[in-house]
Amino acid sequence: MFKYITSGESHGPCLTAIIQGVPAGVEIDEEDINIDLKRRQCGYGRGARMQIESDQVLFLGGIRNGRTTGAPVTLQIQNRDWANWHKKHVEKFTVPRPGHADLIGSLKYETDDIRDILERSSARETAIRVAVGGLAKTILGYFEIAIHSHTVELGGIAARKKPGDFKKFVDTVEKSELRCYDKDAEKKMVRRIKAAQKQGDSVGGIIEVIVKNTPMCLGTYSTWNDKIDALLAYSLMSIQAIKGVEVGLGFRAARMLGSQMHDEIYYSEEGKRYFRETNNAGGIEGGMTNGEDLIVRAAMKPIPTLMKPLKSVNIDTKKPSLATTERSDVCAVPAAGVVCEAVVAIELVNSLIKRYGGDNIKMMKRHIDIDGDAIRKN
Ligand SMILES: Cc1cc2nc3c(=O)[nH]c(=O)nc-3n(C[C@H](O)[C@H](O)[C@H](O)COP(=O)(O)O)c2cc1C
Repeated sequence: MFKYITSGESHGPCLTAIIQGVPAGVEIDEEDINIDLKRRQCGYGRGARMQIESDQVLFLGGIRNGRTTGAPVTLQIQNRDWANWHKKHVEKFTVPRPGHADLIGSLKYETDDIRDILERSSARETAIRVAVGGLAKTILGYFEIAIHSHTVELGGIAARKKPGDFKKFVDTVEKSELRCYDKDAEKKMVRRIKAAQKQGDSVGGIIEVIVKNTPMCLGTYSTWNDKIDALLAYSLMSIQAIKGVEVGLGFRAARMLGSQMHDEIYYSEEGKRYFRETNNAGGIEGGMTNGEDLIVRAAMKPIPTLMKPLKSVNIDTKKPSLATTERSDVCAVPAAGVVCEAVVAIELVNSLIKRYGGDNIKMMKRHIDIDGDAIRKN
């Protein structure tokens, strides 16, 4: 099992992850991971914190001479903002923000300073998850499995243009400040963020993750907690502010007839493989990947910290008060897309290891090659 735990606070010295079950022999290029960290920091609508940070991954264990050894891998990202925080006196935080972990966290852990809660519940934690996901993507790269996300809706504005050619899609999305493939929709989305910002408000949106060259037969219907759709939903829902997950058409499928929705099965004599002409199932049937592109969507709620604060209650005095305002993003949908890619990559590596073993990357490759017929050939 490729299992990880993260540790660290938003304004602490650093964020750390320890990953167990990393196959030996994976060649690491830190720069690949740093590119993803940078992608997570970008996007129109992010707050001032992202101008302070310049996230870089450090490998502190589990690699020698640029390759994983099979031992647990320790990753770290330094928080630059720590230098500004650790010496100054920080006031107690006593008015919880609706929509954040503040109120219930302070009751659960019995603290009179909500900062104890928000330092850990903050989505700053997603930086280190992106680093773990970067390592997972490196492993997937050995099998030519590629993952990419894009913004399909933001503040109620839907992108209409559908991805076609994957390379063109990736290039366009990477050049877009909202990670949106549809330029016209993007302009409207930017205006939506600007308007929300002016009003002291925030916006959410929907992210789609596409996995190309997904091997068949990952996950299983036979035990409820090994279904790959369930595992993906769990991981995606663990991301701060993600409130809904769809596989393939998801909720839209509920409004269709079976004859319209299900992807008919064909066999190619030439390619010696089964294929579909549609992919409404998003590449998963019966909790298993079917070799079509894996397509999942995640819905992100609007950011809870509002510059025009909502009503709340001071936990010291129990008197009504306006929620605390803090430096914050107005919209973090593009950043959340990069986090979604990371958690999907981690789940896929886990499923590959379950099917093919994971002691070392050469062995995984041999097993996958032998099982070649089950791997989708594009
Ligand atoms: C990439 C990313 C950035 C975020 N930035 C902020 C932010 O600047 N301010 C804020 O209040 N919430 C932000 N959030 C959302 C909160 O972390 C989240 O709403 C909060 O932890 C409560 O968890 P929940 O929404 O899952 O219930 C962000 C989420 C993500 C994924």
